[in-house]
Amino acid sequence: MTNSGKAYYLTTPIYYVNDAPHIGHAYTTVAGDVMTRWHRMAGEDVWFLTGTDEHGQKVLRSADSNHVTPQVWADKLVEDAWIPVLKTIDAANDDFIRTTQPRHVERVQKFLSGLRDTGFIVEGAYEGPYCVGCEEFKLSGDLIENESGEQLCPIHSKPVETVSETNWFFQLSRFTDRLIAHYEANPQAIRPESAYNEVMSFLRCGLQDLSISRSTFDWGIEVPWDTAQVVYVWFDALLNYATAVGLGDDPDSDGGKKFAHTWPADVHLVGKDILRFHAVIWPAMLMAAELPLPGCVFAHGWLLVGGEKMSKSKLTGISASSIVDLVGSDAFRYYFMRAIVFGQDGSFSWEDLVARYTSELANGLGNLASRVQAMVGKYFEGSLPTPGAYLPADVALQELLVSTARTADTAVRQFEFQTGIVAVKEFIDAVNLYVTEQQPWVVAKDESQQERLSTILYTICESLRAIAVMYAPIMPKSMEQMWNEIGATESGLSMSYSQVAAWGQLKPGVAITKGESMFPRIEEPVEI
Ligand code: ME8
Ligand code: MG
Repeated sequence: MTNSGKAYYLTTPIYYVNDAPHIGHAYTTVAGDVMTRWHRMAGEDVWFLTGTDEHGQKVLRSADSNHVTPQVWADKLVEDAWIPVLKTIDAANDDFIRTTQPRHVERVQKFLSGLRDTGFIVEGAYEGPYCVGCEEFKLSGDLIENESGEQLCPIHSKPVETVSETNWFFQLSRFTDRLIAHYEANPQAIRPESAYNEVMSFLRCGLQDLSISRSTFDWGIEVPWDTAQVVYVWFDALLNYATAVGLGDDPDSDGGKKFAHTWPADVHLVGKDILRFHAVIWPAMLMAAELPLPGCVFAHGWLLVGGEKMSKSKLTGISASSIVDLVGSDAFRYYFMRAIVFGQDGSFSWEDLVARYTSELANGLGNLASRVQAMVGKYFEGSLPTPGAYLPADVALQELLVSTARTADTAVRQFEFQTGIVAVKEFIDAVNLYVTEQQPWVVAKDESQQERLSTILYTICESLRAIAVMYAPIMPKSMEQMWNEIGATESGLSMSYSQVAAWGQLKPGVAITKGESMFPRIEEPVEI
């Protein structure tokens, strides 16, 4: 449980609407969705936010090259692509913020005016390299050079542009020491450890003040006291996490109450490309406004294509629906959480997806469920039998379940999704082995062994009940189906992980049914 009275609040980045999403964006959102479903299943109060980042030059240029206004472009992309993908991947977000919404714009302006009043925003001149792909002022040490001597952004492999303007500056440099002290005292606030180390060495080089407004284009939030300038897109975007839950509202208003109940965020989930914005600029902005800092920034790795980050700008994206159409949303979610160590880079491969789907989902779990459903149908007319005395093999499974639930809960809460899934998968393997060894179809032939047969089938169904709970945050649709088919419906699929291993929760006599296959076999050879 989190602090009493405060919701567990997790955010994804708000994604640029320069183009449609690919599986890199879906990856972050799925991870956030798995984590928040995990907490929600345990009965915790949860708030899960995602959304879109719609201002700035990057989006403006996409709109320009499509000959529409940036607002028309953003509206279209959000409606046709970014909202639909949430359904495709079965994300249960509580809110969706768009940075062009008045609720965001007004609160950003109020926040900015506050920082100006307290002296953290001052006028200054800026000249330096800028990457529109990153929407970031670059340090020369960050850049790489191509054969013709041009300076390139290492993420977008494109030449940087030079920006030279008189702008408003946020005095970021005043926060170097406080940030270092904060992270020394709270090493868990940046994860994984590689991300922590990267930020610490960056901070130890010292911070420079940050230009937070632009005057050469107008697609952004107006600086309230200088309407010739728009707010720098990252300064606007980072604030979404707080504006979405009522930043700056009167404490007695709905927004103010929401803020008190939600802030600070427990986790900002991001890709490692945007770690510094979240672990350096954002907490400094909060410090300047005397607001509490988020519990943790978790920076996961990249999905790679040919060794490079999959990217909208480079048009190397694979759509989520191309995979979901083949294996369904549950297997999509399972695959990415299972195959890649969260925090490290990984490559997507169709062969690996199909291989794991077939062995772990269709053969491993799907087959186990359909076999026991068929046997209860055949030997007990579809009614769950009453177990008799438990033998050592049965007790061994019950004990394995206790340690499985503990491992899975600890691992998932630490963002070790793969470890959590593997623990449950090993339990499934153990149940499959139990079926092979106990040979219920042989026991069934002996009239005098009815009680033993009942115990075996009950044991398998109880195991499936626990598996449904542990896998539900990862595969919500099929686990709900399985939960209902093994007659657990009555209590609803929600349970804390400390109770999941308590044996004997299914009531003898409930109907065990067999519906559509949860993970139908993929017969077609996949085109690669
Ligand atoms: O950076 N592998 O938006 P964005 C893994 N608007 N994750 C990936 C990925 C990949 N190849 N590609 C994208 C922005 N992502 C800003 C954020 S937040 C206040 C503003 C995911 O559209 C990953 O989470 O470029 C990454 O950090 C994010 O999408 C970047 O999305
Ligand atoms: Mg990007």
